[in-house]
Amino acid sequence: MPAKLILGTEIREQILEEITAEVAQIKEKHGVVPGLVTILVGENPASVSYVTLKIKTAHRVGFKEIQDSQPVDLSEQDLLALIDKYNKDDSIHGILVQLPLPKHIDEKKVLNAIDPDKDVDGFHPVNVGRLMIGGDEVKFPPCTPAGIQEMIVRAGVETSGAEVVVVGRSNIVGKPIANMMLQKGPGANSTVTVVHTRTKNMDEHCKRADILIVAAGVPGLVKPEWIKPGACVIDVGVNRVGEKISEKTGKKVAILKGDVDFDAAKEIAGWITPVPGGVGPMTITMLMKNTLKSLKFKLGLE
Ligand code: GUN
Repeated sequence: MPAKLILGTEIREQILEEITAEVAQIKEKHGVVPGLVTILVGENPASVSYVTLKIKTAHRVGFKEIQDSQPVDLSEQDLLALIDKYNKDDSIHGILVQLPLPKHIDEKKVLNAIDPDKDVDGFHPVNVGRLMIGGDEVKFPPCTPAGIQEMIVRAGVETSGAEVVVVGRSNIVGKPIANMMLQKGPGANSTVTVVHTRTKNMDEHCKRADILIVAAGVPGLVKPEWIKPGACVIDVGVNRVGEKISEKTGKKVAILKGDVDFDAAKEIAGWITPVPGGVGPMTITMLMKNTLKSLKFKLGLE
C-alpha cells in the first residue's frame, strides 16, 4: 500500500487558523498584537521570496509586520545598530535576519546581537542551549525542526522508543532535530542516530529507522532500499534541479527535488512528505508560532 502523505500545505492551514484565533483573542483582551520584523540585506532572489512570504503570512494572522530591506553594501556596524533599535522597540516581539548575509558581514556576530527573548529563529546560542536542556527551558525551537516534529505528531506517528535516524548535521536542521527527538516528553523520547558525510554504511543506519529525517541537501540521496517498510520518511531537501514554465502563471519557476527518491520511496514507507508541499510550508508557520509565543511570554501567558 502506498505511504500516507504528510502535507505541510494542509497542516499549515490548521496551525495558521489556530494562531489567527489566538491573536484576535489577545488583541481583544490585552490590546496588543505580536510584532515581527524581518531584516533583509541585499536582493538574493531566494531570500527576497522567503521574506516576502514571511511578511505576507504575518499579515494574514494579524501581526504587526515590518519588512526592513537594506542595501547589499550595508556595513556590519549599521546592521548591528538596526538590530539594537529593534531589540529596544517594545512593539516588536520577533526579529529575524534573513540568511545568508553578504560576505563582509560576520553572521555569528549578527545572530549573537539579537535579544534572545526576541530570537524567533532560535539561532542565538542562549536558545540553542535552552533547546539542549529541553522541557520548560525551551523558548524558541528553531522553525524547521519544530515544523518537522509537529508534522510527525499531527500524522499520529509513535515517537516514544522509535529509532530515529537523522541524515545531516547542520546547525539549522540536523543537530537541533536530533536533540529534540531524544528529549524526555511528548513527540520525542526516541532513540536517535545522526549520520553525515563521514558515516560508514549510511544505508545500514537508515534501514533501521522507524522515522527517517533527511536534511542532506543532496537530491535523491536516499534510495528506496534504504527505507524500512512502514517507516515515516521526512524529506527536508529542497534542491533546485532546473527551471520550468509554470502552467498557472506562465513565469519561470524552479524545479524542486527532495533528498529522497520520492516515487519509489512512497511504495515502501508508511508515511512520507513530498517536495514541494511537505516540510517547506512548516518553517514559516512555526516562525509565526514562535512570534506569538514571544508576546505570550511577555504577557505572562506562557
Ligand atoms: N535562510 C534560510 N532559512 C532561514 C531561516 O530559517 N531563518 C533565517 N533567518 N534565514 C534563513
